[in-house]
Amino acid sequence: MQTVSQLVPLRSAVDALKADGLLALVPTMGALHEGHLTLVREARRQAAHVAVSIFVNPRQFGANEDLGAYPRQLERDSRLLEGEGVSLLWAPTAEAMYPAGYATNVSVEGVSSGLCGDARPGHFDGVATVVCKLFNQVRPDLALFGEKDWQQLAVIRRMARDLDLTLPHVDRIIGVPTVREADGLAMSSRNAYLSAAQRAQAACLPRAMQTAIAAMRAGTAYAAALEALQAELLAGGFSSIDYAQVRGADSIGLQDGPGEEPGRLFVAARIGGTRLIDNMPV
Ligand code: PAF
Repeated sequence: MQTVSQLVPLRSAVDALKADGLLALVPTMGALHEGHLTLVREARRQAAHVAVSIFVNPRQFGANEDLGAYPRQLERDSRLLEGEGVSLLWAPTAEAMYPAGYATNVSVEGVSSGLCGDARPGHFDGVATVVCKLFNQVRPDLALFGEKDWQQLAVIRRMARDLDLTLPHVDRIIGVPTVREADGLAMSSRNAYLSAAQRAQAACLPRAMQTAIAAMRAGTAYAAALEALQAELLAGGFSSIDYAQVRGADSIGLQDGPGEEPGRLFVAARIGGTRLIDNMPV
C-alpha cells in the first residue's frame, strides 16, 4: 500500500492504478471500524484497486462541534487498510486540501435541507466540497459510502449528477448497508465517545426505531409513532433528540404518512455530549 499526502505524487499513483483496471474510492475521516472495512471489502470485490482517503475535514464541523476531539489514529488505520489489501492511502495534509486563499464552496440545495442539514448548518456544504475535491483528486471509477449517513449519500449523488462528475469518472456511487453491533447499534467512529453505561443505553436507539417502524407498518399514525419513539429514547437514557422524522428516501422530503416514495425513518439523538444518528426503511 502506498501512502500519499500531497497532490503531485497522488496524480502519478492514481495514473498507475487506473492503468491497471477499475479504481474504487472509499472516502473516510479515519478512526476506522468494521463499517469502513466492509466498504473496503465491497470496493475490492468491484474494482482492481482500492484507494481510501483519510481526512478529518474541518469544513464539515460546526464551530461548537467535535473537530478537536475527533479520533485521529493514522498509524492504526494504515495497518488495518494494509491488511485489507488497499492499494493507496490518500491522507492529505490540511494545506494540500485547502491551501492558503482557498475560497470555493459546493452547496447542494434541496436534499441538504432538513435533518442534519438543519441541525448542523453548513455541514453538507463541507461534505459536498470535500467529496467533490476527493473525486477530482482521485478520479475513481466508483466510490462507496455507508448508508448510515443516508442524507450525505443523497447530497453526494445529487452533487455528482449536477456537476457532471459521473462522467468521465465516478461512474457509480454505491451505498453500502449500515454495519451494526450485536445489539443493533450502528457502527460509528463517534461510538468511541460513549462511556460503558452510555454504550449500553445507546442500544435503545435501534430498538426504539424498530418498534416505531412496526407500529407505522401496522397503521399507527406516523406522528403518534414518532412521539412514542422520542419518549422511549428519553426514558432509555438519551438526553435530547435533534430529530425523529420519516422522509422520502430519495427526495429527503418530509412524509406524514405512507406515500408513493419509499419512506425512511431518520433519528439523531444525544447521550450526554455524543450525537448518534441512524436511519431505517419504513
Ligand atoms: O462520512 C464521512 O466520513 C465523511 O463525511 C466523508 C464522506 C469522508 C467526507 O469528509
